[in-house]
Amino acid sequence: MSVECFVTGGSGFVGQHLLARLTAAGYKTWVLMRTPGKIERLRKQVGQLGGNPGCIHPVEGDISREGLGLSEAGKQCVSSVSVIFHLAAEFSWGLSMERARAVNVQGALSVAKLAASQRIRLLMVGGFMLQNHKHLASIGVDEECPENTNWPSVYGRVGGYEGSKIESHFAVIRYMQDAGADCTIVHPATVCGHSESGHILEGQPLVELIRNLAQGRFRAVPGSSRHWLPIVSVDYLVAMMTHVAFDPSMANRQALALYEHTLSLQGMLEQIAGTLEVKAPRRHIPIGLLRWLLMIPGLAARFAISAESLDFIQTQRFDMSNSEQLERKYQLTHPDMARALEKTVRYVVDHFPH
Ligand SMILES: NC(=O)c1ccc[n+]([C@@H]2O[C@H](COP(=O)([O-])OP(=O)(O)OC[C@H]3O[C@@H](n4cnc5c(N)ncnc54)[C@H](OP(=O)(O)O)[C@@H]3O)[C@@H](O)[C@H]2O)c1
Repeated sequence: MSVECFVTGGSGFVGQHLLARLTAAGYKTWVLMRTPGKIERLRKQVGQLGGNPGCIHPVEGDISREGLGLSEAGKQCVSSVSVIFHLAAEFSWGLSMERARAVNVQGALSVAKLAASQRIRLLMVGGFMLQNHKHLASIGVDEECPENTNWPSVYGRVGGYEGSKIESHFAVIRYMQDAGADCTIVHPATVCGHSESGHILEGQPLVELIRNLAQGRFRAVPGSSRHWLPIVSVDYLVAMMTHVAFDPSMANRQALALYEHTLSLQGMLEQIAGTLEVKAPRRHIPIGLLRWLLMIPGLAARFAISAESLDFIQTQRFDMSNSEQLERKYQLTHPDMARALEKTVRYVVDHFPH
């Protein structure tokens, strides 16, 4: 019997690449879709990424609805899967706390409930800031006792998207522990396009950064010469996700998918600018000052930058020993990231010029 998987967020950027990888390996894959009528378009996209469109089947639902809004037939489809990959999230800046909680926190909990009730392994996608313990403490997250965290205050500090990613992470871990069910979490850095094709979707943070540089909106480098925005290629990320999802020893463990040798933000901007054949900014602006400037009405729109995105630019380095162990075990290596970034820039220029 073939292995079956269930994926939320399959139409998104990471989701499309995950579907390509799972279906190329022959896994029958059910995809939760708010609009199942878009399945042919999704099949085509996944086919173009090297997947097998015939292995993809839609299940109608919405993570913000009770029980994911699954019909009895939908529940039946899920009952035969080996792994649930939870990627769906409302991924944008400026989300209200209510909206972010309804989709990203309650939605993740509904997916966790489904996995736990049917004893299905859950693979959830978090974010690399969840491995930045100093940052979590600085914004008031109590990692030892998350229920003591003042969540509205955390949302006030980091915004709806990041606040809800952090809250959902701890809420799902607690739920799965209480239910005695298995959960594995992968934390990606900011995701860069595919290392061969440069494929990326509009709306991704890296696309915005490339466009801002192309359109001369970057007058200064946020932060110091030590600040960086860690990246990972989407192909490395989905490879890591599939390996850990089927690895019994990864039950209730977490993995960081991040290219440790990512250049400083200044170096990365210089590389992108070189590909774009534009000038890279040389001056630096302290993040605190930029954050303050962005509160001036109209400036955030003029610079096409959101204060929320600045939280991801940090000086913190990460403990990569666990990821390195996993890379050895799965014989997984990061692609040439200078080339992956160059391909991504060219893809953005060719596909989303404005
Ligand atoms: N990309 C990054 O740089 C990055 C970095 C760290 C972590 N992550 C995490 O990785 C995951 C995937 O990110 P991505 O970049 O692939 O996001 P994305 O391209 O914005 O895709 C989001 C996906 O979620 C689905 N979705 C949103 N609301 C939903 C709802 N109420 N019910 C069902 N599906 C819903 C969307 O479906 P529709 O097609 O219906 O809109 C889409 O498939 C997210 O959890 C994100 O937080 C991403």
